[in-house]
Amino acid sequence: MLSYRHAFHAGNFADVLKHSVLSLVLDYMTHKEKGFCYIDSHAGAGMYQLADEYAQKTGEYKNGIAKIINDNEAPESLEPYLSLINSLNLNSDLEVYPGSPGIAKAFMRRQDSSHLFELHPTDIQHLEDFCQRWRKVFVKQSDGYQGVLGLLPPPSRRGVVLIDPPYELKEDYQKAVNTIIKAYTKFATGTYILWYPVVKRELVEQMSDTFSKSSVKNVLQVEFCLAKDSDEYGMTGTGLFIVNPPWQLSQQLKEILPYMKTKLGNDESNYTLKQLIAE
Ligand SMILES: C[S@@+](CC[C@H](N)C(=O)[O-])C[C@H]1O[C@@H](n2cnc3c(N)ncnc32)[C@H](O)[C@@H]1O
Repeated sequence: MLSYRHAFHAGNFADVLKHSVLSLVLDYMTHKEKGFCYIDSHAGAGMYQLADEYAQKTGEYKNGIAKIINDNEAPESLEPYLSLINSLNLNSDLEVYPGSPGIAKAFMRRQDSSHLFELHPTDIQHLEDFCQRWRKVFVKQSDGYQGVLGLLPPPSRRGVVLIDPPYELKEDYQKAVNTIIKAYTKFATGTYILWYPVVKRELVEQMSDTFSKSSVKNVLQVEFCLAKDSDEYGMTGTGLFIVNPPWQLSQQLKEILPYMKTKLGNDESNYTLKQLIAE
């Protein structure tokens, strides 16, 4: 089943949280000279045109990046993310929005390498085009869960893995966590970022339980919900599990979350930040 297209959702409130965290993690990795490896299990198209029919159909970016891109009250922690989006839109307010590969590319140095997995036949084409003038990037049209495990540990022993499935299948929730648990046995010092939607609360609780029963240590969980949990169909919130987060990330999120509530949320919106598993 490959009906999910991220072009409908590019730049929405979930992307704002996921991509601002990804920017902070990658920025932190560049503080050391030694190269690192970025692995993206579900990469998408790489870059999105917000004027196209997909983004215009849903207009999701309008309650996401569009609300904060030109805001001078944004906290300093959003600077790596917002300056990157601005640098891509120098001649206009907001025309393009990067996917996770577009975010990663901005932080990669000569000594760093990237591995991107994508299955969709159209998005893999867009991704390959996007990566054409990017050195040390390896793009594969194959299963990202398997792909991640085959690359660990990276030769540099420094790495960031993003796992960002479409959750079209219910199995994705457990499969994503189990992939990190297996990956951790091969590379326990890597940083892993796992994105999830809040659609059914019990599916998120099952993910937390599986992590808690595993040998994985140092897991931060962050969530931003636009609306209260509901039995109706639809995403009410967005969250991330971050294994081995940079030490300042929790503090940075304490600035970002209230800001997101003020700018993107409403009276029903709420957020949580917790150390799910200690170091
Ligand atoms: C949520 S989107 C990715 C968005 C992207 N990471 C970003 O932040 O811009 C999920 C993507 O995973 C792709 N996909 C689905 N199953 C996959 C699999 N098993 N392996 C690799 N890619 C897959 C879908 O085609 C879709 O483009």
